[in-house]
Amino acid sequence: MWFCSECGADSPKWEGRCPACGAWNTMVEERITTRKKDSGQSRTSRMTMSVPQRVSEIRAIDEARIHMPSEELNRVLGGGLVSGSMVLIGGEPGIGKSTLVLQNILSIKSRRILYVSGEESAMQIKLRADRIGRMSDNCYIVTETSLENIFRHIEQIEPQLLIVDSIQTIASDDIESSAGSVSQVRECAARLLRFAKEANVPVMLIGHINKEGSLAGPKVLEHIVDAVLQFEGDRQYMYRILRATKNRFGNTSELGIYEMCQRGLREVTNPSEMLLSRQDEESLSGCAIGVTLEGIRPFLIEAQALVSTAAYGTPQRSVTGFDSKRMNMLLAVLEKRVGFKLAQKDVFLNIAGGLKVADPALDLAVIAAILSSNVDMAVPHGICLSGEVGLSGEIRPVTRMEQRVREAEKLGMETIIIPKGSLKGVDTSKLSIEIVEVAKVEEAFRRLFG
Ligand code: TYD
Ligand code: MG
Repeated sequence: MWFCSECGADSPKWEGRCPACGAWNTMVEERITTRKKDSGQSRTSRMTMSVPQRVSEIRAIDEARIHMPSEELNRVLGGGLVSGSMVLIGGEPGIGKSTLVLQNILSIKSRRILYVSGEESAMQIKLRADRIGRMSDNCYIVTETSLENIFRHIEQIEPQLLIVDSIQTIASDDIESSAGSVSQVRECAARLLRFAKEANVPVMLIGHINKEGSLAGPKVLEHIVDAVLQFEGDRQYMYRILRATKNRFGNTSELGIYEMCQRGLREVTNPSEMLLSRQDEESLSGCAIGVTLEGIRPFLIEAQALVSTAAYGTPQRSVTGFDSKRMNMLLAVLEKRVGFKLAQKDVFLNIAGGLKVADPALDLAVIAAILSSNVDMAVPHGICLSGEVGLSGEIRPVTRMEQRVREAEKLGMETIIIPKGSLKGVDTSKLSIEIVEVAKVEEAFRRLFG
């Protein structure tokens, strides 16, 4: 059979383009040996067949959740790990997936946990546990890559939580293709899922991300599992972000932030503190502080820009941590609506801390940083901004403004520039922060640089 390495679709013959997802050159050949279905199976499956029930008659039992030691992880999971669920933790190699999981399970002393590693020897894991500085008598470690053997270990140990690190190293004897191939990953995940549901034991899979940034091989995995958590970050920085891209038991806008330290991962409970590089020093041109929101948590983040005359014909535009198309749009707005001549300038934009921000509320801060660098005047100390910029240069309201304002106040900001009318119906009399409402980019510019 031929499988698409992007989406897992199968086809009996080779095709240049995947018939399902339309990706080019992704079909790979894999040998399939069909397992002999024993004749008794259809009878047993009829016996265990479930009966349709009326929705009103189904008893809603609150899913039992296992409280994980890391609060950030709990929040991203939607309040703990649901028993019988299967969670996939994806991330680039070396980002800290194994560390995150090991650190957590070594702190759960009340449950028997089996950690199956296909990548590292028990010795290596022990060294890592020593480094993290935690130990547990209830955590069993085994180095194993055969799915059948894993099930033997499960029978023996009867774990209450199973970790498989990583799913791409596990192979079943029933399938001839090598570990990590689409059919292997799909089969192993499906069998582990069946175990999770039947034994009501939560299973955490660790998965690698391929060059393109998707979970290696199988999009299929994303359909199978109950939750997909992405562990990401810039390896140059020590900050790591855990976000849910799919969660059947919680919402996907939550975010957990960690810092990789010498002795494992540290939770960052107040992200604003880490994202503001130098709060007390004097302000420099090209920096502006924006208030952004991830999930339901607002935090302050610094946008840094450098605008300089292009040395060569074509001006350069370089962006880290922000959507480059969006920056080009903002530059066009500044050029056309506000009359800044930026067409012949190099523009570099950077979001501090190696974070990637998708919140449009950061627009105002990005614009402020660019303008500040362009006129070489610092944004006055204690000012932060939050608002979306529209194509005609208007400032548009963003969600949850009240929370953003409160966060800015909590962190000692003196002034916040926000879209006009976004605090309607909110009692601002108790706030000590000065609120400046603007409707146009020019107004914000005037307020910042006079
Ligand atoms: P690891 O968990 O092995 O990554 P993954 O499982 O995602 O491939 O993390 C490895 C990196 O983390 C490695 O570069 C070393 C670093 N690290 C620390 O900085 N401090 C620590 O306490 C530990 C255990 C690892
Ligand atoms: Mg690992």
